[in-house]
Amino acid sequence: MQILGIETSCDETAVAVVSDARPRIRASLVLSQLAEHQPFGGIVPEVAARAHLAHLDRLVGRALAVAGIGFARLDAIAVTGGPGLIGGVMVGVMLAKAVALARGLPFLAVNHLEGHALTARLTDDVPFPFLLLLVSGGHCQLLVAEGIGRYRRLGTTVDDAAGECFDKGAKLLGLGFPGGPAIERLAARGNPERFPLPRPLKGRPGCNFSFSGLKTALRETVVARGGTKALSDQDVADLAASLQAAIGDSLVERTSHAIAEFRSRYSAGAHLVVAGGVAANRALRAALAVLAAQHGLAFVAPPPELCTDNAAMIAWAGLERLKAGLTDGLDFAPRPRWPLDPAAPRATGAGVKA
Ligand code: KG4
Ligand code: ZN
Repeated sequence: MQILGIETSCDETAVAVVSDARPRIRASLVLSQLAEHQPFGGIVPEVAARAHLAHLDRLVGRALAVAGIGFARLDAIAVTGGPGLIGGVMVGVMLAKAVALARGLPFLAVNHLEGHALTARLTDDVPFPFLLLLVSGGHCQLLVAEGIGRYRRLGTTVDDAAGECFDKGAKLLGLGFPGGPAIERLAARGNPERFPLPRPLKGRPGCNFSFSGLKTALRETVVARGGTKALSDQDVADLAASLQAAIGDSLVERTSHAIAEFRSRYSAGAHLVVAGGVAANRALRAALAVLAAQHGLAFVAPPPELCTDNAAMIAWAGLERLKAGLTDGLDFAPRPRWPLDPAAPRATGAGVKA
């Protein structure tokens, strides 16, 4: 079986062809819109939607060419149906619906977060249930993946996502966008202990996260040293290392609470999985590998290029959903918000202090 996947929910236009036979990924193309957004210092939704429109059809043609097939050899089409920037999601969904209608193919509207969640099954066949730390630019959650379309949220952020903290921190340090890779690069030659930044919620029970206090502490540290322009190259590297360490420590500490809960409620579970753009961070991957080993869990982190946004994960999630009989109608409406666990209560920041 071969499936076409399309991802347009943020600032990458991505198309992939994925098969259920190995090698699974037959083509995976990601066109970054960085150059379009750079002048604005962040992602502009309208600019993103127009860029998807300008590039998507050509990218579909190229992905099919790389896979060496035509539309006639496809068994289904999967597309990110949300959550994300709605203008971009609409561009992808419309193209996918058009192809599905014209070719009479099954249509699958995939939750972008489920794409991240199931990547470890694409790469490593991780069985359900598994504990998932999902860390991206917009989301920071601990979930138990119980099955296709079945997720139980153990914790989420009460304010910013981890990726957002990397991005805002990088902006403050004058490092541009996206922040995560820039912080990681500089942190490699910085001292993570020079600036004592807080580990928000440390020692508190539960699995929620909070990053806004950390962001504020970083800003205060920069201001106390005379502002961004007054920082030396070594100051910036040390601040980057200190920020990366604080975010990593916080993610690891909260994940340790989730492991305890996972262990007590899911005796068959044996895997800790990390997914989402922040999962590309090497220091975080190393720290989570140690944590998993301490608790007797196998640790799975997909290769970095499958952690950041891509369409192979959307095609794979579509394939899994197709096999489970979970196809969608062509009346599917794109969803700007789409929680993986709709039953989970809204997290509030009440009482949170860094
Ligand atoms: O999953 P993703 O590509 O897009 C969303 O769905 O949000 O995640 C993007 C986020 C950005 O905040 C980016 O700064 C962060 O992932 N990121 C990283 C690294 N690579 C990307 N954060 C830390 N270290 C990295 N190497
Ligand atoms: Zn993502």
